[in-house]
Amino acid sequence: MAAILSVSGSPSATSRTARLLRHLDDRLREQGHDVISLDVRTLPAEALLGADFRHPAVVEATALFEQVDGVVIGTPVYKAAYSGLLKSLLDLLPQYALTGKTVLPLATGGSTAHVLAIDYALRPVLSSMGAAHIVQGWFTLDKDITAGDDGTLTVAPGAAEALAQVTDQFSAALGGRTTGRTTVLAPVG
Ligand SMILES: Cc1cc2nc3c(=O)[nH]c(=O)nc-3n(C[C@H](O)[C@H](O)[C@H](O)COP(=O)(O)O)c2cc1C
Repeated sequence: MAAILSVSGSPSATSRTARLLRHLDDRLREQGHDVISLDVRTLPAEALLGADFRHPAVVEATALFEQVDGVVIGTPVYKAAYSGLLKSLLDLLPQYALTGKTVLPLATGGSTAHVLAIDYALRPVLSSMGAAHIVQGWFTLDKDITAGDDGTLTVAPGAAEALAQVTDQFSAALGGRTTGRTTVLAPVG
């Protein structure tokens, strides 16, 4: 099966995007993939803001992108586009860091006015970085994601099925096996 890097670009310590991604990571693991999770907010701010390409944490993150077959990129929509935090990491990666990779773009946002942010903002960046195959992404409204204090995550019906579908399409593109579940409603630890 494939090696996957799952990247959350939210600066929030209580990020719904990150919680959602960690949940999808578990689904991808069930399908036989090795998944590495990366929250960009855990990388040193001075390296990201100072364009410190040689910082060990940036070198390590760059190596993770090199090692994997597939990348999940998740971001909150900020000002009608992806987060600045996500861009600060992407800007430190080599121009063609996504060459040969299959990519699943995901976004969460507060307004359906920006449901196309994945397609008009994020997708061109991923394409410019050489992504071989950018599968269908999904925008989830923040109000449709409920994260419990006990680690549980609930996604509203409709959004849950759509997320399961795009995740499974990404998995299949990477040679994963199917789980047969049609939702992403199971609790996460
Ligand atoms: C600074 C800021 C800007 C935002 N701009 C938008 C926006 O332009 N469009 C939108 O739909 N949601 C916008 N939102 C809402 C977030 O995208 C949404 O709540 C998202 O789910 C937050 O994800 P997180 O919990 O992972 O940080 C904004 C939120 C913040 C804090």
